[in-house]
Amino acid sequence: MKLFISVLLLVLACAAGAGPASPPLRPAVLLTGAPYRDGQDLSGQWTYSKDLYKTGLTDINGWVAKSRMQRYRDLDVAAVEARGGTDFFEFDLDRGPQMAIPGGWNAATPELRYYDGLIWFQRKFTARAPGSGRAFLRFEAVNYRAYVYLNGKEIGRHEGGFTPFVLDVTDALRGGENRLTVGVDSAHDAQSIPTAITDWDLYGGITRPVRLVYTPATFIDDATLGLGTNGRITGEVQLQGPRAAGQAVDVAIGTIARATAVTDTHGRAVFDIAAPPALARWSPDSPTLYDVRFTAAGDAVRDRIGFRTIAVQGNQILLNGRPVFLRGVSMHEEEFGARPARNMTEPNARALLHEIKHGLHGNYVRLSHYPHSETTLRLADEIGLLVWSEIPVYWTVDWDNPAVLRKALAMQAETIYRDRNRASVVLWSVGNETPVSEARTRFHAAMADNVRALDPTRLVSAALLVKRRKIGDEDVTVIDDPLMDKLDVLAVNTYAGWYGDDTLDALPRLKWSLPADRPLILSEFGADALAGYHDPAHRKFSEEYQAEYYRKTLAMAAQLPTLRGMSPWVLKDFQSPRREHPVFQNGWNRKGLLSETGVRKEAFGVLADHYRARAGAR
Ligand code: GCU
Repeated sequence: MKLFISVLLLVLACAAGAGPASPPLRPAVLLTGAPYRDGQDLSGQWTYSKDLYKTGLTDINGWVAKSRMQRYRDLDVAAVEARGGTDFFEFDLDRGPQMAIPGGWNAATPELRYYDGLIWFQRKFTARAPGSGRAFLRFEAVNYRAYVYLNGKEIGRHEGGFTPFVLDVTDALRGGENRLTVGVDSAHDAQSIPTAITDWDLYGGITRPVRLVYTPATFIDDATLGLGTNGRITGEVQLQGPRAAGQAVDVAIGTIARATAVTDTHGRAVFDIAAPPALARWSPDSPTLYDVRFTAAGDAVRDRIGFRTIAVQGNQILLNGRPVFLRGVSMHEEEFGARPARNMTEPNARALLHEIKHGLHGNYVRLSHYPHSETTLRLADEIGLLVWSEIPVYWTVDWDNPAVLRKALAMQAETIYRDRNRASVVLWSVGNETPVSEARTRFHAAMADNVRALDPTRLVSAALLVKRRKIGDEDVTVIDDPLMDKLDVLAVNTYAGWYGDDTLDALPRLKWSLPADRPLILSEFGADALAGYHDPAHRKFSEEYQAEYYRKTLAMAAQLPTLRGMSPWVLKDFQSPRREHPVFQNGWNRKGLLSETGVRKEAFGVLADHYRARAGAR
């Protein structure tokens, strides 16, 4: 009995988060600035082998897979077969079909359109041995679980479809030809983040670039710099390796400032300097980026960094100390085109962000519902768009499960460590449309605390659900959510006029009851329209209905006294297996202001006119 009670107490303590200290959330290696480091991009044609029954991972009894199924073996199957004998195989990645990587496999071939499970990928490449230095593989994203092998050795695993991870291959990398094998399992479950229930497409695969990166034995693993509301530039540099301690670190901000510091016994150096008078603040209207160069121990890392401040004062959002209105739109990571592969190349990202910046006269984008590609974030820095960033704690996850909370906190850390130098990112969101419960609010509170611990310089929000209440004889829209008290900026998704029975004419008369002391963003509103479908009766799914929906919703929004931003749902039509109306949808969510091929709908002009007027009114 005593044993039972002590185990129970331990379980309860863990559940309350007071359990044994869990490993730090910071990934072991970050390799900040990796895109600019010495190395090799492994994008290109990879071979692949489907493995729906996971035979390459486990045998029928849960034992280790049979060697004839182990896709990751470092051998030439054809040569072994040619020699004859008793060995035989039930795979051969050397002679498998090919696929362009990065990109989701669901767009690669018709047979893989809805494939949801394990596929093995292989890329052979020639490299130099790391010598006295180190070698790493950096994956920008693999959706959803990754099993990585190099030359037949297991190198590491990762869970999470939208954040980077770095694996040390110093000991496994050969001078000459190497065989990289990556198992990708797209399957989601009740304990994944997100779960299998979403409103977007599968996009399993190696969806962002893979890079082989070389570093010296002692190298700069992380280097951050930012401007505080106190007018000082602060940051830190973290070295890794045998000579990390006691190293002089130098940082140069363009030609306007330089600073030096010395690393402590943990290899960490901290900077805190007065912002030089000549420092130009970053903003959407003037997206000034500085070439920043960090040098230490013979290593160098560069980044392009914008310096700005973001804060909340009462119910205002202040950018560089001045009130700002966020003229934005929500966006999925999906390029224009009839068969997108979630391959966010720079031209693809530029085409999307151009529509926001120059088509809609926007200054803001909600990168929903997961961390977007680093390419997109760097472009937002370059062209001047403020960014809302979120991890896919979406609708419902397993709120009571400490392991799921750890996954969420780790996913937040991977995102924040990756994007801390991005001036465009101003908001970290901790959830989207999650139903209120004690466990859910506890989960989100832990996420909000985690964000603040990792990055106290940015604002915390969440896309909340609204409720309709009878107050007196009036039907009033309210935010009844205890999570509000953990947020700097309130945000709500509202679909009156699309979901539910409100008529469009009723929208401008809808009453809201809002806290007067907090800024509010309408993080979503929207209506479906099939581009080119015009209905004289203006019924739902017509461009006319969507355009009138926007006019009436904007009239309603104009009456919200604390409204400080909008990110209507959604920039362009996107693929979703939830949307199967055979005339209007056919697997596409049609709330886009543009069609999937980039045709602007009538509502696009309604929002563009509204934002142009707001931009002019500042
Ligand atoms: C929700 C959700 C979106 C979804 C949208 C819709 O608000 O956040 O991901 O696509 O509604 O219903 O179209």
